[in-house]
Amino acid sequence: MCGIVGYIGHREAYPIILKGLKRLEYRGYDSAGIALYDGNDIKLSKTKGKVADLEERLEKEISTKGSLGIGHTRWATHGVPNDVNSHPHFSNSGNLVIIHNGIIENYDSLKKELLKRGYIFNSDTDTEVLINLIEDVMKQDGIKLGKAVQVALNQVVGAYAIAVFDKNKPNEIVVARLGSPLAIGIGDDEFFIASDASPFIEYTKNAIYLEDEEMAIIRRDKEVNIRKIKDDSLVDPYMQELQINLEQIEKGGYDHFMLKEIFEQPRAILDTFRGRLLIDKAIIKMAGIEDNMKKFLNADRIIIVACGTSWHAGLVAEYIFEDLARIPVEVEYASEFRYRNPVIKENDVVIAISQSGETADTLAAIKLAKSKGAFVFGVCNVVGSSIARETDAGAYTHAGPEIGVASTKAFTTQITVLTLIALRLARAKGTISSSDYRHHLIELELIPEKVEKALKSDAYVKTIAAIYKDVKNFLYLGRGYNFPVALEGALKLKEISYIHAEGYPAAEMKHGPIALIDENMPIVVIATKKGHYEKVVSNIQEIKSRKGKIIGIVTEGDYSVRELADHVIEVPDTLESLSPLLTTIPLQLLSYHIAVMLEKNVDQPRNLAKSVTVE
Ligand code: G6P
Repeated sequence: MCGIVGYIGHREAYPIILKGLKRLEYRGYDSAGIALYDGNDIKLSKTKGKVADLEERLEKEISTKGSLGIGHTRWATHGVPNDVNSHPHFSNSGNLVIIHNGIIENYDSLKKELLKRGYIFNSDTDTEVLINLIEDVMKQDGIKLGKAVQVALNQVVGAYAIAVFDKNKPNEIVVARLGSPLAIGIGDDEFFIASDASPFIEYTKNAIYLEDEEMAIIRRDKEVNIRKIKDDSLVDPYMQELQINLEQIEKGGYDHFMLKEIFEQPRAILDTFRGRLLIDKAIIKMAGIEDNMKKFLNADRIIIVACGTSWHAGLVAEYIFEDLARIPVEVEYASEFRYRNPVIKENDVVIAISQSGETADTLAAIKLAKSKGAFVFGVCNVVGSSIARETDAGAYTHAGPEIGVASTKAFTTQITVLTLIALRLARAKGTISSSDYRHHLIELELIPEKVEKALKSDAYVKTIAAIYKDVKNFLYLGRGYNFPVALEGALKLKEISYIHAEGYPAAEMKHGPIALIDENMPIVVIATKKGHYEKVVSNIQEIKSRKGKIIGIVTEGDYSVRELADHVIEVPDTLESLSPLLTTIPLQLLSYHIAVMLEKNVDQPRNLAKSVTVE
C-alpha cells in the first residue's frame, strides 16, 4: 500500500526521498510524487506510474534543491490512479502540503462542510479533504500547524499515516499515525520519515515507531516531540535500534527480489529455528510458548486468523496441530472473522499470522478476539510491527525483509514456526511418542539442505514454464498437508503472471474442476510418497484419461507418477508433515519463470500491495 518518505535536516532532501521511494516500491503503488521546500516556496511534481517516471518528469519540472521534503507512492483507494489524485496534495492556499497512507472514512461529510466554506478540490481524494481541514482549523482558530493537525485528526474517522509541512514554518514536519505504520529515523541533527525503516537504514540505525493515535512534531536540529492525538499528553519516545542492514534489502545479484527470496529459503528456515530447535537435548525452546504454556495446554481449540499466503500457512498449521498436538483448529480469513460475530471463548487461543504485521483485517480480528477474552499469539516477520505489538505473546519468523510482493520465504518460515509450536505442544501434552518426536526434530533440522536440493530443479522448472506460459488456466491439486500448498501454488501464479489458476483438494476435483480438463489444461499435482499417495495417483489416472497435461511434484526416485505424467519435478523425501516446505519450492519457481517469460513486473504485480493497511 502507499509508501511515505520525508526528510528534514542538513542534506539535500531529493536524493534521499527518491531513493526511499524506490525502496518502498515493493509495497505496491500506481503513482508517485515529491514536494520540496526550496528555501522560498514548495515545489511539487507527481505522476501516475512508477518512481522512475516521476524522476524523469520531476527533474524537468522543478528544481531539486532543498533540505525539507516529502514523497509518496500511492495505491489508489479514493479516485482513480492519475496525476491529479497522486500525492502530495496542497491545501487551497498552497501553504500546506501533505502525504497520506490510509483512508479517511468520513471524508464525504467533511468535504461537504469545507465546500460550504468555499474550499475547492482538484482531486477525488480523501487526502485533499484532510489537508484543507487542517488549513481551515489553522485559519479559524489562528493556531499553529501541530495543534491544527491534532484538532483536525480528532474529527477524522479512518486510518492514516501522514506527514505535513507548512511553507511558512520550514523548520518542522508534523506526522501522525492511526492504523498505518510510520517510522522516524533519528540522525545527527536530521530526521527521516518513512513507512518502514528501509529508506533510511544507511543514514541511521536509530528509529522511533509511532504508535496508533500518536503524532510527532519534528523540528530541524531539535528533538522529536511526540503527543497523544486525543488528549495532547506527552509521550516518552522509545528509540529502537534497527536490526536490518542494506544488503538484506538489495537484490544481491538476482534479477528480482522474488527470486532472491526463493533462494534465501534454506537460510531463512535455518534462522527460524536457530536457538529454538536444540537437537542435542531434543528440545524446542520458544519463550512465547513456555511463558504461556498453560494457556495452550488448556486451549479448547485454536483459531488461526490471517490473510493471503499467511492464511495458507494457517491451513498447513491446521493439519500439523490436529495431527501432532490433537488440538482442534479453525482457520479463518481475518476479513470474514472480524465481521462474523464469531463465538470466542476464554479458553480459545487465537494465532494471528502475518508477514508484515500490518494487515488491517488481521489487526482488527486480533482486537476483536482480545475484546472477547481470548489469548492472542502472533506469528510475524516484521519486528516491532503493529500485530507483533498488539498480540499477547508471539514468535517472530526471522525470515529477514521480504520485498517481493508475492510471498515466498515468509510462507515457509511461518510453517516452520508453526511446526515448532505444534511439536512443542505435542510433547507437553504427550500426544506424540518420544521416538516420533525425535524423528520430527531430526527431519526438521534437515529441511534447509533439502530445500537447497529442491531448488536445484530451477533450470528444469524453467523449461516447463516455457511450455505452458501462454495457457489461460491452470489447476493445482493436492491432498492432506499438500492441499494448502496447491492453493498457495495457484495464488503465486495468479499474483504475478495474471494467469487464472485454481487450487483444489485432489479428490474434490471430481465434483467440478474435472469438467474443465481437456488437452489444453495443465494440472500441477502434488503426489509425494508419504500421505495419500495411491489415492493421488488414482486422481492422476482420472486426469490422464481426460487428456489433461500433468505436471507431477513427486518424491525423489518415484517411478509410478513418471509413467503417467507429462513432466515430473522431484523433491527430497521427508515426513508428510514437513513436505509442504519442499513441495512449495517448485511451485514458486514455476510461477516466477512464467511471469518473467510473460514480461510481467514480478516484484510489483499490478493492483497488489505487499502490506494491506486498509480493509
Ligand atoms: C497481501 C500480500 C500477500 C500477503 C497478504 C497478507 O495481499 O500481497 O503476499 O500474503 O497481504 O499479508 P501479511 O503481511 O498479513 O502476511
